[in-house]
Amino acid sequence: MHKILIQLDTDPHPSVFDRVVAIDAGVDQLFSYGGIKPEQVRDLIHGAIFTRGPKDLKNTAVFIGGSDVAAGEQLLAEARKHLLPQFRLSVSLMLDSNGANTTAAAAVRAAGRHLDLAQTKALVLGGTGPVGQRVVQLLARAGSHVRVSSRQIERAAAVCERIRRVVPEARLEPVAAADTVSAAADRHLILSAGAAGVVLFPASARASASNLKVLIDLNAVPPLGIEGIEVSDKAKERDGVVCYGAIGVGETKMKVHKEAIRRLFESNDRVLDVAEIYQIASELP
Ligand SMILES: NC(=O)c1ccc[n+]([C@@H]2O[C@H](COP(=O)([O-])OP(=O)(O)OC[C@H]3O[C@@H](n4cnc5c(N)ncnc54)[C@H](OP(=O)(O)O)[C@@H]3O)[C@@H](O)[C@H]2O)c1
Repeated sequence: MHKILIQLDTDPHPSVFDRVVAIDAGVDQLFSYGGIKPEQVRDLIHGAIFTRGPKDLKNTAVFIGGSDVAAGEQLLAEARKHLLPQFRLSVSLMLDSNGANTTAAAAVRAAGRHLDLAQTKALVLGGTGPVGQRVVQLLARAGSHVRVSSRQIERAAAVCERIRRVVPEARLEPVAAADTVSAAADRHLILSAGAAGVVLFPASARASASNLKVLIDLNAVPPLGIEGIEVSDKAKERDGVVCYGAIGVGETKMKVHKEAIRRLFESNDRVLDVAEIYQIASELP
């Protein structure tokens, strides 16, 4: 039976990137829909669950993407509402709008290769963006103490509040980007998830960070978010600090993305959001 992936994208053109990964992950038939709004989801989900019988439905799955993460989250919530698990009329679902879940999972996985995350003091720069928020959530769930940085400390505080609702035990502290030097001072991990082409951690800020073990930058567009590392760094040691650039993390991101798509077809009841995708990342060799 053909593996069918139904791609629901909130952008007008369904992402070419996500389409290529789907094919490379072994999908036989890819049905791509663009410009999807929540009110259109019910009929699309019905088309998925009412065609094949319960025992065959693991061969149909739904991938939600697009550049707007909040819009993708709405589609996921809507899709879940229209599954009928009580009759086993369900399909597995995955959310990866803006690549945020797979990127955050790969970044935290990279950090976890070098640090005991439960004992780690982290600073997430650009922690208010879709990728940064997911990084903060994953680190907090793993037990790290996380400083969340924003140019507006109120935005960082709002993110901390939102994450505490999902991870009540989270140890979080909002900080202002203007205070990066002092915020970095005792940190083991500094992860930059700021906007493309913006330096968030200049070389001059580095001297204060005397406990630093790992630096991870997710911005691939020069100038990079962290000065002094290269975009292709992958566990590259520089001045005693393990460094990752966006391409170094991106290789793992691709593996995580493909593996997550494969896992969608193992059963008809999976929902792969950030925590589940991180679990997949942590099982990779
Ligand atoms: N490697 C991959 O596969 C992959 C996949 C997806 C994304 N990415 C990269 O990951 C990074 C994060 O992505 P994202 O979509 O979450 O980023 P984003 O929303 O564009 O930006 C993240 C945060 O950066 C801060 N920021 C924006 N403009 C700024 C400026 N001019 N100066 C200083 N700070 C600024 C903002 O925080 P405040 O306003 O709160 O300060 C914003 O919330 C990006 O560099 C993106 O290119 C990589």
